[in-house]
Amino acid sequence: MFGRKSIITVLTTSMLLSAGVVYAQTNIAVNAQSVTAFDNKVIKKISADNMYNTIKYLSTVPREAGTAGEVRGVEYIESQFKSLGLETRRIPFPIYDYKTLKQQAIVDGADLNGHAFSGSGSGNVTAELVNVGKALAGTVTDDVKGKIALVERGDITFVEKVQNVAAKGAVGVLMYNTGTGNNFGQANGEVPAVAITRAQGLELVEKLKNGPVTATLDVDIERIEKTSYVVEAKLKPNKNKDTGQIVTIGAHHDSVANGPGANDDASGVSAVLELARIFVNTPIDTEVRFLTFGSEERGMVGSSFYVSQLPQSDIDRMVAHFQMDMIGGAEAGEDHPLGGLIMYTIDGQKNLVTDLGASATSRLYDVAVPYGQLGRSDHQPFHDVGIPSALFIHSPVEPQYHKPTDTIEHISKEKLQQAASTVGAAAYQIIRPDTPALDRAHVAPAIVNYDFENRAVD
Ligand code: BES
Ligand code: ZN
Repeated sequence: MFGRKSIITVLTTSMLLSAGVVYAQTNIAVNAQSVTAFDNKVIKKISADNMYNTIKYLSTVPREAGTAGEVRGVEYIESQFKSLGLETRRIPFPIYDYKTLKQQAIVDGADLNGHAFSGSGSGNVTAELVNVGKALAGTVTDDVKGKIALVERGDITFVEKVQNVAAKGAVGVLMYNTGTGNNFGQANGEVPAVAITRAQGLELVEKLKNGPVTATLDVDIERIEKTSYVVEAKLKPNKNKDTGQIVTIGAHHDSVANGPGANDDASGVSAVLELARIFVNTPIDTEVRFLTFGSEERGMVGSSFYVSQLPQSDIDRMVAHFQMDMIGGAEAGEDHPLGGLIMYTIDGQKNLVTDLGASATSRLYDVAVPYGQLGRSDHQPFHDVGIPSALFIHSPVEPQYHKPTDTIEHISKEKLQQAASTVGAAAYQIIRPDTPALDRAHVAPAIVNYDFENRAVD
């Protein structure tokens, strides 16, 4: 059997120096790899105490997007990047809060006690109702023009439904539920959109069979604009040795409103800052962008904005995005190996990031970190434009998730150290100068065997 030690004796220094060759040969003994000198250049410098202190500072107040708490966090992150000499940018973007001032749906003089969708358009319209079923794309006819669309919930998003009927000229939307309740969802749009119960909706469907029905929608929603931020810090490679490629390492700096977000996601931010601190003093041949995103908790608004403002030439050069979110939860992960560390991809497929992650943990901890399928964080928009990306997280998540108890007391330094070391060692495989540009290197192919896990996350 190939044990850890026997493999070391098999490897020569020159083999270690050309990592691609080493990986190809060590496939005979899966996971029987050892910490390399390259790994040590990164992992020996990682300080869980530094990370802990960052989390402590960031988690003294909530950092809800668009609040002074976010700005306080952003200023801290920015100052850290700047003190490292990094080219640092604060990228503002707008976010919107909605305040409902009036929400009424009236049919035949009866008030249906409807609820306006958050993000609904404002207006007072009276028009005939038209039943458009679920308003699936391609099924809505021109009949709806100038009328109010009666829509059933399900199959596609509210936003899509409203878009589909508005595109055909509907002046309002009356949406009924699949279950009980009449207060659901977000429907960005120009026309008033009001939710009613399933029973009310079905009654209207019946009524329409007997002749025209007129409805009135009266909605007044105030839109309040706020500003949230992405912080970007660029680390440029050696001018004489530049692969032209870019690696991004990110976390979200915002928290939910009622929690200090120590683990979610000051922990990820602390690792981004720590890796920045280490990589500024390490020769590299690939640009690294350290990113912290605002408004992740509102639906990845910051990372989506960041990706949307990138020139295509940057996107084309981006070869890997490492997202860290909730990487320090002491009570996360149950009895899974590596404290429950797992790499989630949007499509549930392996990619360069997961290959390098699994290889890193097998070298560092003798265990190949598994992968799984999950969105729910800022790796989504990177994936959407074709950049190999993965979320590093401990799952199942801890009981403090999104609660006021997500505080520094529940942070594990060991978990921080492990997750940051994994991402640091994995990213270093790409950015260190002795590996050739990725498309010509052997670091990309699957390096160790690692498993798909369909693990419950919360
Ligand atoms: N850190 C979480 C993501 C997460 C939570 C992943 C639990 C796995 C298990 C993230 O900050 C979050 O809460 N995301 C939102 C989704 C977002 C689109 C609003 C969520 O999962 O509800
Ligand atoms: Zn999070």
